[in-house]
Amino acid sequence: MENTQKHIFIIGMMCSGKSSLAPVLSKKLDIPFIDLDMDLVSILGLDIQEIFNTLSEKKFRLLESTYFLEHIKGSQHIYATGGGLVLNKNNRASLSKYGITILLDTPIELIYKRLIKDQGKSRPLFIKSPNKENLKKIWNERKEYYAQCANLVIKTENKSLDIIAQEVIEYINQ
Ligand code: S3P
Repeated sequence: MENTQKHIFIIGMMCSGKSSLAPVLSKKLDIPFIDLDMDLVSILGLDIQEIFNTLSEKKFRLLESTYFLEHIKGSQHIYATGGGLVLNKNNRASLSKYGITILLDTPIELIYKRLIKDQGKSRPLFIKSPNKENLKKIWNERKEYYAQCANLVIKTENKSLDIIAQEVIEYINQ
């Protein structure tokens, strides 16, 4: 795959800004975006909490991964991924193989504030234990994976979506 045709994958913790950045970047680059969680929700007709409750977290991960690995074989897209996508080895390998991966590095404190504000919507892992310690634990369990997959790490605090998108564009154009 030519570099210009590679997908752009946005990874990071829940509420780090992935789903907000994807449409902004999509508009600036004129590349369509996909939000994996939103697609799963619409395909299954269940929200994320219901998928976790009625099917289980394990099945959610399997569905997420199956859908992701199939979709990336298609045309170039910007992907807003779910925070747990990097937990799967095949997903991690595919991030490297099929695209450029951007990690949004957002402080836990800010993530916590956002989660409290939107009442943990779609975030069963937070809802079951809605505190900063839980978020830190999740971050600690995943940080190696995030770092391993990321071609570019962007610190998002105090930056507008436009500025963050600009940083991505400068990186991919260099
Ligand atoms: C998850 C993050 C969520 C969603 C699900 C699991 C996670 O997506 O996929 O609740 O394990 O971190 P966001 O990162 O878009 O919140």
